[in-house]
Amino acid sequence: MQGLEANDAAARYIAERFGLGGRPERMVPVGGGEMGRVYRLDAAGAAWAVKELFRRTDEDRVARQVAFQDAAARCGIRAPANLSTVDGRHLCSLPAELGGATVRLCSWIDGHPVQTADPGLSEWVGSAIGRIHGLSYPADGADHDPWYDACPTPKRWEELIAAGDAGGADWVSAIRSRLGSLLSLADLVTPAEPTAMICWHLDLQPDNVTRERASDEYVLLDWDDSGPEMPDRVLAMALWDWHVHGDEIDIKGIQGTLAAYRRAGGHAELTGIESFTAIVASYLNYVFVQAERTLHAQLSLDRRRRAAAELQSSLANPPDPARLMSVLNVARAQI
Ligand SMILES: Nc1ncnc2c1ncn2[C@@H]1O[C@H](COP(=O)(O)OP(=O)(O)O)[C@@H](O)[C@H]1O
Ligand SMILES: [Mg+2]
Repeated sequence: MQGLEANDAAARYIAERFGLGGRPERMVPVGGGEMGRVYRLDAAGAAWAVKELFRRTDEDRVARQVAFQDAAARCGIRAPANLSTVDGRHLCSLPAELGGATVRLCSWIDGHPVQTADPGLSEWVGSAIGRIHGLSYPADGADHDPWYDACPTPKRWEELIAAGDAGGADWVSAIRSRLGSLLSLADLVTPAEPTAMICWHLDLQPDNVTRERASDEYVLLDWDDSGPEMPDRVLAMALWDWHVHGDEIDIKGIQGTLAAYRRAGGHAELTGIESFTAIVASYLNYVFVQAERTLHAQLSLDRRRRAAAELQSSLANPPDPARLMSVLNVARAQI
């Protein structure tokens, strides 16, 4: 894969395909990671976010995600507007001579990054989840992503360690010494119940929220992972991602989020430790994938180094069962 180059020809092609009118002024990279890269495109007196997608997707899936995002917007969740091409598609593939990337386009939100401690943000998080859960937007047969409820078997961990040994990886002893606790964490993972799933954004974390300068309102970005999940697991994920910082649990933050969730019409309750399945499964999958990446000869040295750093920091901060139980107890005390 060559990837998108932020040059005039690519900017012109994208502007034409999405019918922006006028000559684009510039396209500059602004962010992104392993799943995609985002560019700001200025054209026809307005700004747009071009997202280059690294993960395979298809027009039907994106159309379902856009319909879900539109439904969320109707109940007050602000998000960038999705644009479609002049022939009505959300995905646009650039020709090979322009790098051959697949991109999407949405409106640019001029905003400030958020901090979890910002006043009112805990409540916004609870209210956004509550309003979306209140919709009960049907999963409609969309596949549940196994990232959130399946994790590597003991055999795969052994194979990974053997491959790490063979490749002289420096993480081998760190993973080997933690294997027991990684496998006990895997015991907490239970398969999601297909009939209990509704649509959710699936990546509500601080990087994906911005505070729009003009309106001072929170805007939720990055809907590309949206799909089915069980409501209690969504709630547990949010409490963990927003209110647990290392060993510190922000009890007031959890309470603020839960109270706002109920006020906004949210109906889920954490049933037990299994409500944290998505946290635990995605943690184990993340550790595993980062370790694999460090061994992947076809990846650039830079990406392998980034994977090694991610692996190290993830291993140092597992979702240990005692902290999961503490969050569960705070949540239960509130219900
Ligand atoms: N519509 C947008 N307006 C302004 N900034 C955006 C927009 N979309 C993405 N960004 C910026 O680019 C970053 C990465 O975009 P995101 O869609 O979250 O990609 P990723 O899947 O890589 O996390 C965001 O955290 C945000 O800073
Ligand atoms: Mg993001």
